[in-house]
Amino acid sequence: MPARSFEEAWSLASGIDGWLTEAQARVLHEEATRAGGTVVEIGSHLGRSTVVLGSAAARVVAVDPFPVDWRYGAVDTAERFRDNIARTGVDDAVVLLRQPSADALASWGEPLGLLYVDGKHDVASCLRDLRWAAWLPGGARFLVHDAFSSVGVTLAMLVLAATGRSSRFLGRTGSLALFEVGSPTPADRARIVAQLPWFARNLAVKVLLRLRLAGVARVLGHDDGADPY
Ligand SMILES: C[S@@+](CC[C@H](N)C(=O)[O-])C[C@H]1O[C@@H](n2cnc3c(N)ncnc32)[C@H](O)[C@@H]1O
Repeated sequence: MPARSFEEAWSLASGIDGWLTEAQARVLHEEATRAGGTVVEIGSHLGRSTVVLGSAAARVVAVDPFPVDWRYGAVDTAERFRDNIARTGVDDAVVLLRQPSADALASWGEPLGLLYVDGKHDVASCLRDLRWAAWLPGGARFLVHDAFSSVGVTLAMLVLAATGRSSRFLGRTGSLALFEVGSPTPADRARIVAQLPWFARNLAVKVLLRLRLAGVARVLGHDDGADPY
């Protein structure tokens, strides 16, 4: 299938439940188009982001064990994912590895063009998922969803900023963080830490929404009933 424009891709993906915003989907589409080569996605759920990536790249490996005990998991999630991939016509491009990301990584053996991390959101799982970046060549990019809206993922970002030696933080679209493989400068590290006020604001918004105080959340610039992503 020839690559689809972002507008075509989003008209298909936006009907699939998930948390990726339109602006973030645009970045995924741009980065997958720019990268070429194999795209690995960790965490696919119903395929919202997979459809965007599969509309831009010729090969997307989607890694998800679809555990039913995950907060939004269900017995039919894998089947619904497959239906969405087929219905949107990206099944030529998308290969599903239905296994935990660590198991898939253990048997992986080829370079990647782009990595997209959106799997389990605890710090240990996120750091484990980030080990896939070892398969990216210098100058290649990877993206992390919920980088500044989930405690576990944000802690993983701080570990990366404090101790990582092979990735540079380029910026974010909402809480979608973009990194490049390369030696980080002190300024690159500081740029991640500088996102902490944004993270604190998102945490506050989430608490306010749980307390049904959407009006107060609006004062923080959040005028949506859904969590900030
Ligand atoms: C936030 S959702 C992904 C959302 C998806 N990218 C989208 O655009 O809608 C997180 C996903 O991580 C998956 N997951 C849980 N444990 C995992 C693991 N060990 N390896 C890979 N994925 C995992 C869950 O099944 C779930 O589908």
